[in-house]
Amino acid sequence: MAAMPSLHSSSPNQTHMPIFTYHSSIFFLCLLFHLISIVASAHFYSDVEDMEGIKIDLFPEVLRDEAVARLNELGKISDTDGYLERTYMSPASIRASNLIRGWMEEAGLRTWVDLMGNVHGRVEGMNTSAKALLIGSHLDTVIDAGIFDGALGIVSALSALKVLNINGQLGKLRRPVEVIAFSDEEGVRFQSTFLGSAALAGILPVSVLQIQDKSGVTLQNVLKENSIEISDESFFGLKYDPEAVWGYIEVHIEQGPVLESVGLPLGVVKGIAGQTRLKIYFSGPASLMLTLEANYRMVNIFDPPL
Ligand SMILES: *[C@@H]1O[C@H](CO)[C@@H](O)[C@H](O)[C@H]1NC(C)=O
Repeated sequence: MAAMPSLHSSSPNQTHMPIFTYHSSIFFLCLLFHLISIVASAHFYSDVEDMEGIKIDLFPEVLRDEAVARLNELGKISDTDGYLERTYMSPASIRASNLIRGWMEEAGLRTWVDLMGNVHGRVEGMNTSAKALLIGSHLDTVIDAGIFDGALGIVSALSALKVLNINGQLGKLRRPVEVIAFSDEEGVRFQSTFLGSAALAGILPVSVLQIQDKSGVTLQNVLKENSIEISDESFFGLKYDPEAVWGYIEVHIEQGPVLESVGLPLGVVKGIAGQTRLKIYFSGPASLMLTLEANYRMVNIFDPPL
């Protein structure tokens, strides 16, 4: 969702699969505490005492140690040796999906995998007809990704909900909360980004099922290889009714150096860069070529007229 691939944490001069430092652990604990506050504000009784009862030092084993261990564990699930790569529905992606699904169940969520391979974990709370809060991020990666990209949004959400579960508050949420690990954001395999989330948003054309990866396998067949039979009809059924959704939160590693350079642990974005990727094919006579002196070109699309 928050992808700016050129700015991703995959720069060549970065050490592969970094291990957490002490400072980032502290930051992570703070971040998760904030996430819990947001989720718990959906608490049915919204009693402040309950929130004050969640002491930041009560759950370091879940909010810090386990979350950090999970990020490191996910960061090792790769299709290649030596660097992190998980493309849509690859063997490593399936292993990561299964792992994440297990964590969702451990957090007390009801889980399922949808027809695009997105992994969902949901708790209904006290009012099943209330609009749901969605929290999520992507489980696929760019090639040679950092361990936080995508994984942070999934792991932090699950750690926050796990604490509410331990506290006995999960069932008292005043609206459903659903964590979604999106199967494709980066578009590495099919050169088509956001396959996972765009299907849920209902903005993906059904023709996408026929796009092919480099080896000529269609998206539909990739799903079939993973025992997912998707038809045109069931594809449209993936769309979430906007009326059923209250909001969406995604915790994401910053895709730039600003927070680090000013020493801030956390930023809340007011907007996000939207991407449009276009492939443009030109066809025409050779005299269109830029190598020909401009006045001789039959059609002058590159230079303004002299
Ligand atoms: C449950 O949610 C629905 C839809 O938002 C709302 O109309 C209803 O009042 C809620 N029920 C309770 C008990 O809060």
